[in-house]
Amino acid sequence: MTERERELEKRREEAKIGGGEKRIEKQHGKGKLTARERIELLIDKGSFQEIGMFVSHRSSDFGMENQKIPGDGVVTGYGTVNGRLVYVFSQDFTVFGGSLSETHAEKICKVMDQAMANGAPLIGLNDSGGARIQEGVNSLGGYADIFYRNVLASGVVPQISAIMGPCAGGAVYSPAMTDFVVMVQKTSYMFVTGPNVVKTVTNESVSAEELGGASAHSTKSGVTQLVAQNDVDCIAKIKNLLSYLPQNNREAPPNLSYEYGEESRPQLNGIIPESSNQPYDMKAVIDHLADADSFFEVQADFADNIVVGFIRLAGRSVGVIANQPYSLAGVLDVDSSKKAARFVRFCDAFNIPMLVLVDVPGFLPGTDQEWNGIISNGAKLLYAFSEATVPSVTVITRKAYGGAYDVMNSKHIGADMNFAWPSAEIAVMGAKGASEIIFRREIAEAEDPEAKLKEKEAEYAEKFAHPYRAAERGFIDEIIQPEETRVRLIAAFDSLEQKKVWRPEKKHGNIPL
Ligand code: HXC
Repeated sequence: MTERERELEKRREEAKIGGGEKRIEKQHGKGKLTARERIELLIDKGSFQEIGMFVSHRSSDFGMENQKIPGDGVVTGYGTVNGRLVYVFSQDFTVFGGSLSETHAEKICKVMDQAMANGAPLIGLNDSGGARIQEGVNSLGGYADIFYRNVLASGVVPQISAIMGPCAGGAVYSPAMTDFVVMVQKTSYMFVTGPNVVKTVTNESVSAEELGGASAHSTKSGVTQLVAQNDVDCIAKIKNLLSYLPQNNREAPPNLSYEYGEESRPQLNGIIPESSNQPYDMKAVIDHLADADSFFEVQADFADNIVVGFIRLAGRSVGVIANQPYSLAGVLDVDSSKKAARFVRFCDAFNIPMLVLVDVPGFLPGTDQEWNGIISNGAKLLYAFSEATVPSVTVITRKAYGGAYDVMNSKHIGADMNFAWPSAEIAVMGAKGASEIIFRREIAEAEDPEAKLKEKEAEYAEKFAHPYRAAERGFIDEIIQPEETRVRLIAAFDSLEQKKVWRPEKKHGNIPL
């Protein structure tokens, strides 16, 4: 090795140590891995190619000219995950608290640009004290450069953000604009204004964990789609998620090789209870329909009256959107509409076919819902399904009532194939509610109003509480036995593989945000 070659090795070793052993120990003491350890876990062994190891900041205020650490608090580059190219940045909390300087931002922008140009997912491992305080507006400009690229990359390459430490102030808006956020329990938080400011402005006392920890954002705000137990679990979840996604919007999602066997699923036959008011677990339906152990749920703890996630169906990656009768009878409300709409738009942007399972009694009534905008939020889901052009198949397992029938990917708004189980009830509303309205006078004037209501209810149910009216009109393509559903779905998605649809030219639509 020549002198110069030795110098390079020495400089590399210095860069790899980041903020030094003491700070690395502190990082480990918090139960967190370092930026490089995280990359090692994420990227296939030996495939990581670093870019910008020697970049350092240009600041000379507050003595910063004497504190230059190569890499400037973020490790950036590319490599493969299970053999597929990804671009990654990993913030190094041991260097100025992972804070974002102008050059730190430039490094992130460089990998974002390359991810877009080369059509590969971008993964951000966030662990940062926010804007580099010593740099002022240069740092703010750097954030805005990243935000702008998040938007350019949206719908072009999948963007995944892991929150593995602090993420506060305007810094939260980059992850918020990516497709998936994964937060690590106990060691990460996200908020626009922290506990101190909250106390000053609203006089509320709240801890960082309560205000913006993984639990708050997975159950209350819906900001995070996934929660991890620790850093190792976080990286494992990202890898699993990537396995369902295409590399970019020009590609089909992965279609794993699959050996066909006995595809009928008799377990599904008895799954719908006799009484239409009795709940059942839609996740059990999903599990029976999907390839074994392939259901990857996202946003499980937020608005659990709707279930969204990915499955494999004979090896093909499929997005699932399903009402969950176990929670609020599967009703659509503000949160579930928003959750499902965002997921539908992700699937549509990345060519992931959709399976929609319907058991919905309608929209949730009440002042809370109306005043929180169930009208415009429900419209988001209607809009998202209507604008989607990916192959989509709907199966009505039980209730499909009122406007929710239309919204849940009905034939009318673009579904390619609509099935119903014999247990399906497709009507404006349930038989009791309907009878109380249309036979009000007859019931009131009857000698025994209760008996009359029962009689009218039965009459209405016989007329409408089944799928045959809808099938007569062709709104349902076929009524199928539950056990046949998997076979039907596989065939339907096969037939839709080359689907092409026409849409009027426009700049972009105006989804009711
Ligand atoms: C420069 C920073 C920094 C920052 C932390 N450090 N945040 N340096 N700019 N924003 C440095 C610390 O000086 C310290 O340096 C090291 O990082 C570790 O920080 P600690 O405070 O020792 O760590 P910890 O106790 O774990 O606390 C972490 C923290 C705290 C909660 C993040 O550091 C903190 O409150 N930092 C400031 C956060 C902040 O107000 N950021 C600006 C937000 S506004 P040494 O040398 O001692 O190791 C913002 C706007 C973005 O981000 C706008 C986008 C549009």
